[in-house]
Amino acid sequence: MSTNRQDDEEQTLTNRQGHPVSDNQNMRTVGSRGPATLENYHFIEKITHFDRERVPERVVHARGAGAHGYFEAYGTYGDEPISKYTRAKLFQQKGQKTPVFVRFSSVIHGGHSPETLRDPRGFATKFYTEDGNWDLVGNNLKIFFIRDAMKFPDMVHAFKPDPVTNVQDMERFFDFVSNTPEATHMITFLFSPWGIPANYRQMQGSGVNTYKWVNAEGQAVLVKYHWEPLQGIRNLTQHEAEQIQGKNFNHATQDLYEAIERGDFPAWELAVQIMEDGEHPELDFDPLDDTKLWDPDKFPMVPVGKMVLDQNPTNYFAEVEQAAFGTGVLVDGLDFSDDKMLQGRTLSYSDTQRYRVGSNYLQLPINAPKKNVATNQRDGQMAFYVDIAPGQNPHINYEPSSLNGLREAELGGKPHQPSYNASLVKQKIERTNDFGQAGDTFRKFEPWEREELIRNLGEALATCSPVIQQAMTANCTQADPEYGRLVAEAIKQAEAMSSHEGTPAAREGMELSEELGQRTD
Ligand code: HEM
Repeated sequence: MSTNRQDDEEQTLTNRQGHPVSDNQNMRTVGSRGPATLENYHFIEKITHFDRERVPERVVHARGAGAHGYFEAYGTYGDEPISKYTRAKLFQQKGQKTPVFVRFSSVIHGGHSPETLRDPRGFATKFYTEDGNWDLVGNNLKIFFIRDAMKFPDMVHAFKPDPVTNVQDMERFFDFVSNTPEATHMITFLFSPWGIPANYRQMQGSGVNTYKWVNAEGQAVLVKYHWEPLQGIRNLTQHEAEQIQGKNFNHATQDLYEAIERGDFPAWELAVQIMEDGEHPELDFDPLDDTKLWDPDKFPMVPVGKMVLDQNPTNYFAEVEQAAFGTGVLVDGLDFSDDKMLQGRTLSYSDTQRYRVGSNYLQLPINAPKKNVATNQRDGQMAFYVDIAPGQNPHINYEPSSLNGLREAELGGKPHQPSYNASLVKQKIERTNDFGQAGDTFRKFEPWEREELIRNLGEALATCSPVIQQAMTANCTQADPEYGRLVAEAIKQAEAMSSHEGTPAAREGMELSEELGQRTD
């Protein structure tokens, strides 16, 4: 916090009208013991502003920590100039620096939930480029639970606390997951130590969804983005997480803040995988499917720049809480793919932010680009200034116009114009291959990671009813028969350790199905 105000007058307490406050301790009352009056302007302003100190928290990723820094471009893609693949200006020159703001988060629980929970971690980066903002809204893991945005609200409902008890319930969690076979791969990561990163500095990041890069000729390639921490990667066992949580449930926020304060600035390399634009029938998965990894032996992780976080926020609320990231926020040279999750996400972020922060959320300093903004959007709650260009006729808030209004920009190269010839359908992608990579990941884990995975799944599933246990075991068996066998065994072991009567959701579900069964009998 800045405390270097020297002028006494500047340090005088005022209200937001600029009136000096001479008594900030006592309300105005009729005698020292009498009733308060309604014209207590300072008191009423103070309390009613306090009453409005919170905005709604994010519906997901509510708990977070953020920091400022910069991204430094390498200017190349391996041995080639990066311009061969993208014309995005921020990547072109070696050593070129772009300011960034990053927000890390956990996903499911509320704003002050423990940072040791088994949960994906968010890793969202805002690049304030010369062409306007680019948001890369990623997670620590490289894949996701579902591949169609239609399923997201159901997934989040199943993972969040039970609407009756307000307690997170593995019965509901695995009810959804076992009926969503494509989630098997993500669950394999999530219940291994990769589901609890030790802190934010020692975790990876990934854009997860498939994007495109576009060059000056308008040619596109498919890309995936990955952040690799230069501090190394560290994950926790369940036991280690419990030890930390018993003493400190803010450890990740604290770790990030303190590292930056002592000048130990965390850094990540941005690695990009490229695939030729197209369907890739030679692969056993669809490149637009975010439940799949792209094999780095076939699609190498090529570093294109480095990010350093070197400045803590001066105010948590103004910068971290009000920060608004979205997958629709791209700059020229970067583009969307037809990944259905990406398409759905792109609607969701700015929609929720207009509700959560307000319709002029992009005028807040943390969200505004660091360049002049000139739009014909006007007014709305909390409009702070007019987005006007220097020299623009202030009467002209529309386009086109011959009266010195705003004009459309030139594109940075030829447009990328994919063409389509298909029926309009509601259909899954064809190459679902829901279990193949889950099996590969299970087999690639180190022995201690596999042991943790099995124990954690066993303990969580032991609280579920048999129908859920069987469905999950069947999905793991499809991934690898050994995986399924070990999970079934671990469930039995965990059950033997604790006699359990089922969760409220399970009991109620059973009773209802018995009742329905009797009615149809
Ligand atoms: C936050 C929706 C999938 C990463 C959010 C928020 C919403 C949302 C509504 C709150 C934003 C805010 O209040 O500012 C969705 C939908 C998805 C989806 C509809 C699927 C269709 C994903 C995936 C990832 C992801 C696959 C990982 C790549 C994040 C992150 C945040 C977030 C990191 C927090 C951003 C921040 O720090 O402010 N998401 N999400 N989401 N989402 Fe998603």
